[in-house]
Amino acid sequence: GELLLVNGPNLGILGRREVSVYGTDTLADVEKAVGEEVAGRGWSVRSVQRNGEGQLVDEIEASYDTVGAIVNPGALMMAGWSLRDALANYPRPWIEVHLSNVWARESFRHESVLAPLASGLIAGLGARGYRLAARALLDLVD
Ligand code: DQA
Repeated sequence: GELLLVNGPNLGILGRREVSVYGTDTLADVEKAVGEEVAGRGWSVRSVQRNGEGQLVDEIEASYDTVGAIVNPGALMMAGWSLRDALANYPRPWIEVHLSNVWARESFRHESVLAPLASGLIAGLGARGYRLAARALLDLVD
């Protein structure tokens, strides 16, 4: 099977983006870590990073055949209603990940329109959060 790894706006430059907040791991590092975590199950990783919400919707619609997903929506967390609706129709378990502890930051980051639909959420653990989400999906997906 294939695990879907979704990263939203401004996450393509991970490793060079506000490094004091988001750390130095790049998206390639994250893809490698997630791949390592699920390799034992024979899964590969389909990684998509898009800055536009509509492009993310396209990618999710094209990924119903994946076994489960890890989603860092970036700022679309707060008001990404069409991303929310796309995920509502995604047929497999998925986990929301945020590198930073959004609840320790500005109040506009405290609301997620996606989280009510997620199997779970990991925030504040940096890039290792993706790895932990991958491990959780191994349990959630039969
Ligand atoms: C983020 C947190 C969001 O508030 C922010 O807009 C991001 C990154 C995180 O991974 O910590 O783009 O999703």
